Amino acid sequence: MAPSLASASLLSLAGIAAASASPSPLVVSSPAKVPTGASWSVPHDFASFSFPAHFFKDYAGTISLCWNGCPCDRVWYNASQKIDSYNWYNESSLTAALGIADRVYIGPAFFGGFNNFPGTHWSWQINMGTDYGEEGGLDNAMEVAKLVMDRVQDRLESFEIGNEPEYFVTLGERQENYTIDDYVRDWNKYADAASERVLKGNKYRLDETRFFQGGTFTSGQDEEWNV
Ligand SMILES: *[C@@H]1O[C@H](CO)[C@@H](O)[C@H](O)[C@H]1NC(C)=O
Ligand SMILES: *[C@@H]1O[C@H](CO)[C@@H](O)[C@H](O)[C@H]1NC(C)=O
Ligand SMILES: *[C@@H]1O[C@H](CO)[C@@H](O)[C@H](O)[C@H]1NC(C)=O
Repeated sequence: MAPSLASASLLSLAGIAAASASPSPLVVSSPAKVPTGASWSVPHDFASFSFPAHFFKDYAGTISLCWNGCPCDRVWYNASQKIDSYNWYNESSLTAALGIADRVYIGPAFFGGFNNFPGTHWSWQINMGTDYGEEGGLDNAMEVAKLVMDRVQDRLESFEIGNEPEYFVTLGERQENYTIDDYVRDWNKYADAASERVLKGNKYRLDETRFFQGGTFTSGQDEEWNV
């Protein structure tokens, strides 16, 4: 439940921001009763935090324990890597200027970072963005998802697949002709792989097929991607 609640909370914050920026009063009507199928209201004691992969270490500490979040589309797992994570910045990239690493290389110690948050529930974002031109991007992402699941166990709430796909082309993660149809195809491919290779037969009673958080888009401004 947490991921959908988190989304609801983000949407309401976005709504407030839009309303305050508006030059004229915004008229909003709502039904008197909660509609059937409405999402749950956000409990007042609910708190949710999003950690980008490249900053996880700053929050979780370094001592051979570490963890992660949003440029998960830039995560690459290396089982031989001694240090928990290593950020690489391409000085000419658009996102490096914003302090976002272009590549986040993680090793086995990275996953120990979850231990520093006892009792915390997690949603993990599977890398569907960059594969650095190397073979095995999907395999690597599934290996990471499995390691996260085995570490977090029944406190794993969902997998998200890829982040802000309308930026994949701008950020050089997909070719110019990449469309929303391609994204849906990719999303299903990754979801099927996670169901089959990660969730199937898991020991933590996690749902094997309906375990995915909907796609997260940057904004509704790009018409092609405005779903
Ligand atoms: C993985 O890590 C090892 C140890 O640091 C390093 O020698 C190797 O080059 C890395 N492999 C890749 C593909 O980055
Ligand atoms: C660095 O970013 C620039 C601009 O996006 C790109 O052309 C170049 O290929 C990138 N270099 C590497 C090694 O990824
Ligand atoms: C997209 O562009 C690439 C490179 O130009 C090409 O190989 C691929 O076939 C194109 N895909 C579609 C669906 O047109």
